[in-house]
Amino acid sequence: MIKRIKIVVIGFGSIGRALAKVIALKRKTINNKYGILIDVVGVVDSKGMALKADGFDEYELLKLCEVPRSGVNLFKPYAYQGVDLDVLYNSTQPDVHIELTPSEYSSGEPGISNIIYAINRGVHVVTANKAPLVLKYREIMSSALSKGVEIRFRATVLGGTPFIDTLMSLRSHDIERIEGILNATSNFILTEMHEKLVDFNEALRMAQALGVAEANPTLDVDGVDAAAKMVIISNILEKPLKIEEIYRESISRVTLRDIIDAVRQGYIIKSITFFDVRGGKASIKIVKIPKSDLFAQINGIMNGVRIRSDATEIVFIGRGGGGIETAHSILDDVISIALHYS
Ligand code: HSE
Repeated sequence: MIKRIKIVVIGFGSIGRALAKVIALKRKTINNKYGILIDVVGVVDSKGMALKADGFDEYELLKLCEVPRSGVNLFKPYAYQGVDLDVLYNSTQPDVHIELTPSEYSSGEPGISNIIYAINRGVHVVTANKAPLVLKYREIMSSALSKGVEIRFRATVLGGTPFIDTLMSLRSHDIERIEGILNATSNFILTEMHEKLVDFNEALRMAQALGVAEANPTLDVDGVDAAAKMVIISNILEKPLKIEEIYRESISRVTLRDIIDAVRQGYIIKSITFFDVRGGKASIKIVKIPKSDLFAQINGIMNGVRIRSDATEIVFIGRGGGGIETAHSILDDVISIALHYS
């Protein structure tokens, strides 16, 4: 028996478009493999919505990706001017809400309100927006529990890899320390500076062109994004940190001279996030590490995390971002929800 899963996508930037493309390419295969037919019934950006209650077909999903930024309200005949979640939900009756609005760490909006809205409507949530979890993790999880809906967020940390799932599965471990390269943009910038000897600003422009940087890239270079990821990790470990408690050093202060001096001495400069789980303290530091160190081999948009527990040490290396990789994480979360509830 085929199970239809209707999804609405809130936020249609690079990740939203990558998701639409991946669904267009894979929905038939997913249907054949799992008996689940994923229908995108609504797409929302800052100015409007495109709605189709019986789901956009593959061609329409690919055409949607061609609309200009903030232009889904031009996608005729499915266009709707303005954003109204009541209209979206009442006309499409979604099963899963995909929250892809940008992470905004002062208010957490519009992500927090959108997620709470979905939960109150009894709709499962998959989010790549980190801010709601950073600011309201407990509140969101307890509301979801009371409404019997799932919140999945694999895309928020090491976005292109199943890191969150692995961390959650270490139920018998007493995790003592987590450290790693958690921000793809910063790691890419530092790698470019080492390998091509370009300065910080030029490397930042290259990172933005790749589409991996946040809408506001100071969140990446100043360590806010990495701190946000560590806050999410800390909540999973039930040792919750607040983002403002995490000491941060910005890579914008790293000069080419620093890099050349470090390399001459046999070191590489990296931005590493440390979490002493037992001590309840985390920090993001610009450090010089030996070229032979494992983290020195993790370059470009790759991320790496070392988990130390009372039982073992695990190193996790994978894509930290990228539209297609992150879209697969989101889609995997949707499929998990669909399998769980079918
Ligand atoms: N801007 C983020 C990064 C994207 O560079 O790591 C993935 O979370």
